[in-house]
Amino acid sequence: MNLSIHSNIRDYTVSFEDQAVFIDELAQRPMACFVIDENVLGFYSGTLLKNLPAKATIVLPINEERKNLETVQELYDRLVEFPAKRNLTLISFGGGILEDITGFVASTIYRGINWIYVPTTLLAQADSCIGSKTSLNYRKYKNLIGTFFPPTHIHIYPAFLTTQLDSDFFSGFGEVIKLHLLGGESDFRDLVQLAPAILKRETTALVKTIHRSLNIKLSYMAGDEFDTGRRNLLNYGHDFGHALESTSNFAVPHGQAVVFGMLAANLIAQRRGLLSERIEREIDEMLLTPSLVVKPSPEALDAYAMVGAMKKDKKRTGDGLALIMMTGDFNFTRVNDLTEDEVASALDTLRNRL
Ligand SMILES: NC(=O)c1ccc[n+]([C@@H]2O[C@H](COP(=O)([O-])OP(=O)(O)OC[C@H]3O[C@@H](n4cnc5c(N)ncnc54)[C@H](O)[C@@H]3O)[C@@H](O)[C@H]2O)c1
Ligand SMILES: [Zn+2]
Repeated sequence: MNLSIHSNIRDYTVSFEDQAVFIDELAQRPMACFVIDENVLGFYSGTLLKNLPAKATIVLPINEERKNLETVQELYDRLVEFPAKRNLTLISFGGGILEDITGFVASTIYRGINWIYVPTTLLAQADSCIGSKTSLNYRKYKNLIGTFFPPTHIHIYPAFLTTQLDSDFFSGFGEVIKLHLLGGESDFRDLVQLAPAILKRETTALVKTIHRSLNIKLSYMAGDEFDTGRRNLLNYGHDFGHALESTSNFAVPHGQAVVFGMLAANLIAQRRGLLSERIEREIDEMLLTPSLVVKPSPEALDAYAMVGAMKKDKKRTGDGLALIMMTGDFNFTRVNDLTEDEVASALDTLRNRL
């Protein structure tokens, strides 16, 4: 069940935990500093996290606006006070935002220290915890700064997911859908079957889905850790998704924006004759539309604003707009000739469909 992951930076392990005892073991580690998302501590200070040493624990209020260099500096200031230096182990508990902040800190302080990560959201457990990327926002630019740096060890404990807000849980589910579509038709059908149990947050269904999601992600990263080729297809749904995060001022959470992005990409693929209307509608009706619980406002879907945001995407290489599209048989391709008219007409259709 556990995964051993090869990385060019360092190999690491993902372990699936069915009991909380691993947290008490982490609490005993010498030379460790714990960084916890304030909301997570709020839920678990009297239970799962009660044995963490208070003196070695930093509680961090987080939100997307705080995923920046200032927060990183706050952490540097706290960490330099610890007697341990290069032998310090940073242990973080939180979702993707805390992962990005603590991963960046762990990769840069003393040129890199041990970092154990315990993801507490579906998005982080099923997707972002592996992949070696850390990202910070810079001024108005999302994820502009970052490093490649995997944790030394990841512990997946689905019990943390029971307290997630629905909107955040569905955000993670968006990335899970993306990975299962990238996996192929049988992964898509399996996910449709499991979806009711996942949404009830049943442990067995969660473990199975998280495990499969991580394996699919690994298959796309194999041989391309630094994201120069095939790994890029993991950005399916993210062309429109990143733009929507920006036009909605982050009112639409990351994975929810990706759900919208997949709806738009599939519609355009279908209009280009690459994807059959039957498959496009099936994916839309069975998974995507029911999972889009944070509906984008009409202003956020304004074609001029969306095109403007898409033009700023850091992954853009040519003059045209880029789009990763699904083709008929669950294959994926990236085009660089998406037109502004195609964007506008897809947005018109989707505004009426939502
Ligand atoms: N590094 C990567 O490869 C990568 C990949 C995808 C996304 N991301 C980043 O991840 C971020 C989104 O991450 P996220 O969706 O995990 O959200 P998040 O970290 O913002 O957490 C969402 C909310 O849930 C709260 N929370 C966390 N765990 C909880 C729990 N167990 N119970 C109750 N509340 C809990 C948080 O305090 C926060 O308010 C974005 O900044 C995105 O850019 C990074
Ligand atoms: Zn994503």
